[in-house]
Parts: sequence; C-alpha cells; structure tokens
Amino acid sequence: MYGMVNQALESLVTERFGADVWTTVRQKAGITDPAFITMKQYPDEVTYSLAGALSEHLQAPIPDLLRAFGVYWVAYAQRGPWGKIMLASGGSTYELLASLDAMHARIAISFPELKPPSFKVHRDGDAVVVDYHSHRPGLAPFVVGLIEGIGTLFGETVTVEQIASKDGGVPADSFRVWAKKAS
Ligand code: HEM
Repeated sequence: MYGMVNQALESLVTERFGADVWTTVRQKAGITDPAFITMKQYPDEVTYSLAGALSEHLQAPIPDLLRAFGVYWVAYAQRGPWGKIMLASGGSTYELLASLDAMHARIAISFPELKPPSFKVHRDGDAVVVDYHSHRPGLAPFVVGLIEGIGTLFGETVTVEQIASKDGGVPADSFRVWAKKAS
C-alpha cells in the first residue's frame, strides 16, 4: 500500500502511545527505514507486519487495532491534501458510502498504482447494505472503523453489523449500516 497508509498508522501510534512505542513497533516489524514516503508503493506485507508487531507490543487483538485505525484514518485523511475530495464525495454517511468507488477513482489520479477496494451499496429499509470487495485479506474490521469514522465526520450516530464474511466462502464481506443525525 502507498506510504500514506503506513504514515497514518505511525501518526496514530505516536499520538496515542508516543514516538518510542512507534520505534519499537517499526523495528519489531523488521522495517529499517525510519520514515515512509507518502507517494511510494510499499508491499502490503509492510502494513500487515506493522499491525502484527503493534498487536504483540500492546497485547491487543489485530481486529481491534484495525477498527481503531479505520476510525482514525477518516479524520487523518480529512486534514490531508485529499480531504476536500472526500468531503465533496458526499454530504452524509450514506452518500459517501455510495460514492467510495468514484472517490478512490479520483484519488487514483494522484496515486496511479492505487489498488483500491470496491464498495457496492444498496438501500435496505432505513439502513444500507455495503458489500466490500478487496483482494486483501483480513481488513473487514478496518472497514467497520472507517464507516464509524465517516459517521463522526458527518455528526451521525452509526451502527455497523457485519452480515457476511469472506471467511465463510462468499465473494465479499457485507455490512448493514444504520446512520442517523446525532441529536
Ligand atoms: C481522502 C480520503 C482517502 C484517501 C486519500 C484514500 C486513499 C487510500 C489509499 C492510498 C489506500 C491504499 C491502497 C493502495 O495503496 O493500493 C486506500 C485503501 C483503502 N481505502 Fe481509501 N482513501 C480515502 C478514504 C477512504 C474511505 C472514506 C474509505 C471508507 C470505507 C476507504 C476505504 C479503504 C479501504 C478499505 C482500503 C484498504 C485496501 C483494500 O481494502 O484492499 N478509503 N485508500
């Protein structure tokens, strides 16, 4: 994944646990470079190793860390150079979820080697169902956190329930999402 993703993880860990914890985790993950380059593609293993090393260091399950990273990513991306594209892609949780593919396509203009996920969204009563397609394994908890982060972005209370898992042999992870304006 692009260095931007690893930089966001670095930012999260440094803010919450301090620079020393990040250095320990980076070394534990076998990464010798002291800094990531935003626009450079790194093997996905780099990101997975960092998550694994962080989980070991904090004694916290990887899915919990991925979910927290998802929430953090939305706020991190919002204050970065592509934040405006995200906000212009929708004015509510449901709208942004429905335009994630178009949003990543616009972002791919700056990141030509982007291998983005794909989200198919349909209405289901007062909820929406989101099918998340990716060739990368294990990131469903990241998506849960991302959707929660989107809710926070729009001041909405969001509930996310995973209703299908690729582990069960289906082609995509699916989530039912309810969002309403926080009162
Ligand atoms: C300004 C906002 C955003 C930017 C700049 C951005 C950019 C990126 C980048 C660079 C990657 C790594 C993929 C690669 O390097 O090949 C990525 C992956 C991903 N993005 Fe976004 N993204 C943004 C917002 C979002 C939002 C709001 C979601 C909400 C669901 C999302 C969902 C994902 C997921 C799930 C992945 C993991 C890759 C995978 O599943 O295969 N992104 N994005």
